[in-house]
Amino acid sequence: MRLVMLGAPGAGKGTQAKKIADKYGIPHISTGDIFRANIKNGTELGKRAKAYMDQGALVPDELVVDLVADRVKQADCEKGYVLDGFPRTIPQAESLDAVLKDMGQKIDHAINVEVPDENIVKRMSGRRACVSCGATYHIEHAPSKKEGICDRCGEALILRDDDRAETVKTRLSVYHEQTQPLIEYYGGQGCLEDVDGTMDMEEVFAAICRILGE
Ligand code: AP5
Ligand code: MG
Ligand code: ZN
Repeated sequence: MRLVMLGAPGAGKGTQAKKIADKYGIPHISTGDIFRANIKNGTELGKRAKAYMDQGALVPDELVVDLVADRVKQADCEKGYVLDGFPRTIPQAESLDAVLKDMGQKIDHAINVEVPDENIVKRMSGRRACVSCGATYHIEHAPSKKEGICDRCGEALILRDDDRAETVKTRLSVYHEQTQPLIEYYGGQGCLEDVDGTMDMEEVFAAICRILGE
Protein backbone atom coordinates (compact mmCIF):
# COMPACT_ATOMS: atom_id res chain seq x y z
CA MET A 1 0.00 0.00 0.00
CA ARG A 2 1.69 3.17 -1.22
CA LEU A 3 0.18 6.34 0.21
CA VAL A 4 0.69 10.07 -0.11
CA MET A 5 -0.57 12.45 2.59
CA LEU A 6 -1.73 15.81 1.29
CA GLY A 7 -2.81 18.81 3.32
CA ALA A 8 -1.77 22.23 4.57
CA PRO A 9 1.01 22.64 7.13
CA GLY A 10 -0.46 21.57 10.45
CA ALA A 11 -3.40 19.70 8.93
CA GLY A 12 -2.30 16.58 10.76
CA LYS A 13 -0.42 14.72 8.02
CA GLY A 14 2.34 13.61 10.38
CA THR A 15 -0.06 12.65 13.16
CA GLN A 16 -2.13 10.45 10.84
CA ALA A 17 0.84 9.09 8.87
CA LYS A 18 2.35 7.72 12.07
CA LYS A 19 -0.89 5.97 13.01
CA ILE A 20 -1.23 4.49 9.52
CA ALA A 21 2.39 3.30 9.57
CA ASP A 22 1.87 1.59 12.95
CA LYS A 23 -1.40 -0.05 11.99
CA TYR A 24 -0.37 -1.31 8.56
CA GLY A 25 3.29 -2.05 9.38
CA ILE A 26 4.76 0.18 6.66
CA PRO A 27 7.41 2.91 6.97
CA HIS A 28 6.45 6.54 7.55
CA ILE A 29 8.60 8.74 5.33
CA SER A 30 8.48 12.43 6.26
CA THR A 31 10.78 14.69 4.27
CA GLY A 32 10.38 17.39 6.94
CA ASP A 33 11.56 14.93 9.62
CA ILE A 34 14.49 13.87 7.41
CA PHE A 35 15.55 17.51 6.99
CA ARG A 36 15.15 18.26 10.72
CA ALA A 37 17.28 15.22 11.60
CA ASN A 38 19.94 16.46 9.15
CA ILE A 39 19.84 19.93 10.70
CA LYS A 40 20.23 18.45 14.15
CA ASN A 41 23.21 16.38 13.01
CA GLY A 42 24.81 19.35 11.25
CA THR A 43 25.03 17.68 7.82
CA GLU A 44 25.62 19.56 4.58
CA LEU A 45 22.04 18.78 3.46
CA GLY A 46 20.75 20.09 6.78
CA LYS A 47 22.66 23.34 6.40
CA ARG A 48 21.28 23.90 2.92
CA ALA A 49 17.70 23.03 3.88
CA LYS A 50 17.58 25.10 7.08
CA ALA A 51 17.82 28.45 5.30
CA TYR A 52 14.65 27.68 3.34
CA MET A 53 12.75 25.99 6.14
CA ASP A 54 13.25 28.79 8.65
CA GLN A 55 11.69 31.21 6.19
CA GLY A 56 8.74 28.93 5.54
CA ALA A 57 9.82 28.41 1.93
CA LEU A 58 10.13 25.07 0.17
CA VAL A 59 13.51 23.44 -0.15
CA PRO A 60 14.45 23.25 -3.88
CA ASP A 61 13.10 20.16 -5.66
CA GLU A 62 16.59 18.88 -6.50
CA LEU A 63 17.47 18.56 -2.80
CA VAL A 64 14.50 16.32 -2.09
CA VAL A 65 13.64 14.28 -5.19
CA ASP A 66 16.69 11.97 -5.21
CA LEU A 67 16.48 11.53 -1.49
CA VAL A 68 12.93 10.16 -1.73
CA ALA A 69 13.69 8.15 -4.87
CA ASP A 70 16.47 6.34 -2.96
CA ARG A 71 14.33 5.86 0.10
CA VAL A 72 11.37 4.17 -1.65
CA LYS A 73 13.74 1.67 -3.25
CA GLN A 74 14.91 0.36 0.11
CA ALA A 75 13.89 -3.13 1.22
CA ASP A 76 11.53 -2.01 3.98
CA CYS A 77 9.39 -0.21 1.38
CA GLU A 78 8.53 -3.40 -0.47
CA LYS A 79 5.07 -3.68 1.09
CA GLY A 80 4.46 0.05 0.73
CA TYR A 81 4.94 3.24 2.71
CA VAL A 82 3.25 6.45 3.69
CA LEU A 83 4.81 9.61 2.28
CA ASP A 84 4.27 12.70 4.43
CA GLY A 85 5.26 16.12 3.09
CA PHE A 86 6.31 14.74 -0.29
CA PRO A 87 5.46 15.42 -3.08
CA ARG A 88 4.90 19.11 -2.50
CA THR A 89 5.14 20.46 -6.03
CA ILE A 90 3.96 19.18 -9.40
CA PRO A 91 7.56 18.50 -10.55
CA GLN A 92 8.12 16.41 -7.39
CA ALA A 93 4.96 14.40 -8.10
CA GLU A 94 6.01 13.83 -11.70
CA SER A 95 9.49 12.69 -10.61
CA LEU A 96 7.96 10.29 -8.11
CA ASP A 97 5.61 8.88 -10.74
CA ALA A 98 8.54 8.34 -13.10
CA VAL A 99 10.50 6.46 -10.41
CA LEU A 100 7.47 4.33 -9.55
CA LYS A 101 6.71 3.60 -13.17
CA ASP A 102 10.24 2.22 -13.62
CA MET A 103 9.52 -0.15 -10.75
CA GLY A 104 6.10 -1.13 -12.14
CA GLN A 105 4.36 0.60 -9.23
CA LYS A 106 1.99 3.47 -8.55
CA ILE A 107 0.52 5.49 -5.69
CA ASP A 108 -2.61 3.72 -4.42
CA HIS A 109 -4.18 6.52 -2.37
CA ALA A 110 -3.55 10.24 -1.94
CA ILE A 111 -5.24 11.24 1.32
CA ASN A 112 -6.07 14.92 1.49
CA VAL A 113 -6.54 16.08 5.09
CA GLU A 114 -8.67 19.22 4.89
CA VAL A 115 -8.37 21.93 7.54
CA PRO A 116 -9.24 25.61 6.95
CA ASP A 117 -6.42 28.15 7.35
CA GLU A 118 -8.09 29.76 10.40
CA ASN A 119 -7.68 26.58 12.45
CA ILE A 120 -4.06 26.07 11.43
CA VAL A 121 -2.31 28.99 13.12
CA LYS A 122 -3.92 28.06 16.43
CA ARG A 123 -2.80 24.45 16.16
CA MET A 124 0.79 25.25 15.32
CA SER A 125 1.56 27.36 18.35
CA GLY A 126 0.56 24.42 20.56
CA ARG A 127 2.57 21.82 18.72
CA ARG A 128 5.63 20.27 20.34
CA ALA A 129 7.95 18.03 18.33
CA CYS A 130 10.60 15.44 19.09
CA VAL A 131 13.49 15.78 16.67
CA SER A 132 14.98 12.47 17.79
CA CYS A 133 12.11 10.14 16.86
CA GLY A 134 9.69 12.40 14.96
CA ALA A 135 6.83 12.13 17.46
CA THR A 136 4.43 15.07 17.55
CA TYR A 137 2.39 16.38 20.47
CA HIS A 138 -0.01 19.22 21.15
CA ILE A 139 -0.14 20.97 24.51
CA GLU A 140 -3.96 20.78 24.51
CA HIS A 141 -5.04 18.09 22.04
CA ALA A 142 -2.28 15.51 22.51
CA PRO A 143 -0.02 16.32 25.49
CA SER A 144 3.01 14.20 26.36
CA LYS A 145 2.75 12.35 29.69
CA LYS A 146 5.58 14.42 31.16
CA GLU A 147 5.66 18.04 30.06
CA GLY A 148 8.43 18.77 27.56
CA ILE A 149 9.60 15.14 27.36
CA CYS A 150 8.92 12.67 24.53
CA ASP A 151 6.83 9.64 25.61
CA ARG A 152 8.49 7.42 23.04
CA CYS A 153 12.19 8.16 23.47
CA GLY A 154 12.63 10.45 26.48
CA GLU A 155 14.26 13.32 24.57
CA ALA A 156 13.35 16.99 25.13
CA LEU A 157 10.49 18.36 23.00
CA ILE A 158 10.89 21.55 20.98
CA LEU A 159 8.71 24.26 19.46
CA ARG A 160 9.73 24.13 15.80
CA ASP A 161 11.53 27.24 14.48
CA ASP A 162 9.02 27.44 11.63
CA ASP A 163 5.94 27.35 13.89
CA ARG A 164 6.01 31.05 14.75
CA ALA A 165 2.75 32.70 13.62
CA GLU A 166 4.42 34.84 10.93
CA THR A 167 6.23 31.86 9.39
CA VAL A 168 3.07 29.77 9.52
CA LYS A 169 1.33 32.39 7.38
CA THR A 170 4.12 32.20 4.80
CA ARG A 171 3.95 28.39 4.82
CA LEU A 172 0.20 28.56 4.22
CA SER A 173 0.58 30.80 1.19
CA VAL A 174 3.39 28.61 -0.16
CA TYR A 175 1.05 25.64 0.32
CA HIS A 176 -1.81 27.26 -1.61
CA GLU A 177 0.49 28.28 -4.44
CA GLN A 178 2.73 25.26 -4.89
CA THR A 179 1.22 22.24 -3.15
CA GLN A 180 -2.55 22.58 -3.47
CA PRO A 181 -2.38 21.90 -7.25
CA LEU A 182 -1.49 18.32 -6.30
CA ILE A 183 -5.10 17.78 -5.26
CA GLU A 184 -6.11 18.10 -8.87
CA TYR A 185 -3.09 16.08 -9.99
CA TYR A 186 -4.04 13.05 -7.89
CA GLY A 187 -7.73 13.65 -8.57
CA GLY A 188 -6.88 13.17 -12.24
CA GLN A 189 -5.22 9.84 -11.39
CA GLY A 190 -8.41 8.70 -9.65
CA CYS A 191 -6.73 8.00 -6.29
CA LEU A 192 -7.64 11.16 -4.31
CA GLU A 193 -9.58 10.78 -1.05
CA ASP A 194 -10.67 13.79 1.03
CA VAL A 195 -10.88 13.58 4.80
CA ASP A 196 -12.23 16.22 7.19
CA GLY A 197 -9.17 17.08 9.30
CA THR A 198 -11.05 19.28 11.77
CA MET A 199 -12.47 16.28 13.59
CA ASP A 200 -10.86 14.74 16.62
CA MET A 201 -7.60 12.88 15.75
CA GLU A 202 -9.14 9.45 16.36
CA GLU A 203 -12.13 10.29 14.17
CA VAL A 204 -9.83 11.44 11.39
CA PHE A 205 -7.94 8.18 11.71
CA ALA A 206 -11.14 6.14 11.61
CA ALA A 207 -12.18 7.93 8.41
CA ILE A 208 -8.80 7.12 6.84
CA CYS A 209 -9.04 3.46 7.90
CA ARG A 210 -12.45 3.21 6.23
CA ILE A 211 -10.87 4.42 3.00
CA LEU A 212 -7.93 2.01 3.27
CA GLY A 213 -9.99 -0.96 4.41
CA GLU A 214 -9.10 -3.16 7.37
P1 AP5 B 1 7.03 19.48 7.10
O1 AP5 B 1 7.74 18.99 8.27
O2 AP5 B 1 6.47 18.54 6.11
O3 AP5 B 1 5.89 20.50 7.59
P2 AP5 B 1 4.45 20.86 7.00
O4 AP5 B 1 3.98 20.29 5.75
O5 AP5 B 1 4.46 22.32 7.05
O6 AP5 B 1 3.50 20.16 7.92
P3 AP5 B 1 3.60 20.04 9.42
O7 AP5 B 1 4.57 18.97 9.81
O8 AP5 B 1 3.81 21.40 9.99
O9 AP5 B 1 2.11 19.63 9.77
P4 AP5 B 1 1.40 18.22 9.75
O10 AP5 B 1 0.36 18.25 8.69
O11 AP5 B 1 2.37 17.10 9.73
O12 AP5 B 1 0.65 18.30 11.13
P5 AP5 B 1 0.89 17.56 12.53
O13 AP5 B 1 0.46 16.14 12.41
O14 AP5 B 1 2.26 17.82 13.05
O15 AP5 B 1 7.97 20.49 6.31
C1 AP5 B 1 8.69 21.51 6.96
C2 AP5 B 1 9.52 22.27 5.95
O16 AP5 B 1 10.47 21.37 5.34
C3 AP5 B 1 8.76 22.87 4.78
O17 AP5 B 1 8.23 24.13 5.09
C4 AP5 B 1 9.86 22.92 3.71
O18 AP5 B 1 10.71 24.00 3.92
C5 AP5 B 1 10.64 21.66 3.97
N1 AP5 B 1 10.18 20.51 3.17
C6 AP5 B 1 9.70 19.33 3.65
N2 AP5 B 1 9.36 18.51 2.64
C7 AP5 B 1 9.63 19.18 1.50
C8 AP5 B 1 9.47 18.88 0.12
N3 AP5 B 1 8.96 17.70 -0.29
N4 AP5 B 1 9.84 19.81 -0.78
C9 AP5 B 1 10.33 20.99 -0.41
N5 AP5 B 1 10.50 21.35 0.89
C10 AP5 B 1 10.15 20.45 1.83
O19 AP5 B 1 -0.19 18.34 13.40
C11 AP5 B 1 0.00 19.69 13.74
C12 AP5 B 1 -0.42 19.94 15.21
O20 AP5 B 1 -1.82 19.76 15.33
C13 AP5 B 1 0.22 18.94 16.19
O21 AP5 B 1 0.52 19.59 17.40
C14 AP5 B 1 -0.86 17.87 16.39
O22 AP5 B 1 -0.75 17.25 17.66
C15 AP5 B 1 -2.14 18.69 16.24
N6 AP5 B 1 -3.23 17.95 15.61
C16 AP5 B 1 -3.14 17.02 14.61
N7 AP5 B 1 -4.34 16.54 14.26
C17 AP5 B 1 -5.24 17.20 15.06
C18 AP5 B 1 -6.68 17.14 15.20
N8 AP5 B 1 -7.41 16.31 14.43
N9 AP5 B 1 -7.25 17.94 16.12
C19 AP5 B 1 -6.49 18.79 16.90
N10 AP5 B 1 -5.15 18.88 16.82
C20 AP5 B 1 -4.52 18.09 15.92
MG1 MG C 1 4.49 17.00 9.69
ZN1 ZN D 1 11.03 11.10 20.68
